[in-house]
Amino acid sequence: MRLDKYLANMGVGSRSEVKNYIRWHKVLVNGKPPKGPEQKIDEEKDVIVFAGREIGYQKNYYIMLHKPAGVITATEDRKDKTVLDFIDLPIKKQLFPVGRLDKDTEGLLILTNDGQLSHNLLSPKKHVSKVYYAKIEGKVTIEDVEKFREGLQIEEDFTALPAELTIVKEDEISEVEIKIYEGKFHQVKRMFEAVGKRVLYLKRLSMGGLALDENLAAGEYRELTEEEVLLLQEKGNSSTRG
Ligand code: URA
Repeated sequence: MRLDKYLANMGVGSRSEVKNYIRWHKVLVNGKPPKGPEQKIDEEKDVIVFAGREIGYQKNYYIMLHKPAGVITATEDRKDKTVLDFIDLPIKKQLFPVGRLDKDTEGLLILTNDGQLSHNLLSPKKHVSKVYYAKIEGKVTIEDVEKFREGLQIEEDFTALPAELTIVKEDEISEVEIKIYEGKFHQVKRMFEAVGKRVLYLKRLSMGGLALDENLAAGEYRELTEEEVLLLQEKGNSSTRG
């Protein structure tokens, strides 16, 4: 692995920050200054030191879980089943969920031990998109779509960012898809409450452009591919919406 990639992955700084640290001779590989950021290192064997501190190798894991309803998004709980109870991997204890889905919400949940990625994806500044499918009590109308697009006032001190609401079925129980760029507590439910409607069913379909794998039944999980991890890292590093 390239030295700059290793240091960035271990959370020392962004790729451009660590390049500077290497140029400023703050990094040693096996006691010697490296040739440059592109120098290849063996993460299992080489001793990497940054600013006098050894940067040990910790592999990052990225899991996509199809969260079922009825379990809580936490690492442990005395009473309820948690999302970690579905994971049967030796590194399970290192994992934590990226953000939170309500107990009754289903769908895409990412679990990782990569604190930096998690922090970036959840940062309000990054505007990472989340798409949900929902069933709503009552008829969702074009007027609702317009209100969501303008940015709904939820509480006196909280106006939601503009959201893209698509009506899939307009009926006594409507079906919709909604794309939001923030993740406040009960956000989707509160947005519908603000237009006098109630969410009956909620499922997250995607996050940062990463879609829930349709082959995963509720309760099943798989590791993300390298491309999927890169996609999330790009979303977490950029500040544009997406
Ligand atoms: N919005 C909600 O209201 N609940 C969730 O679980 C996720 C988004």
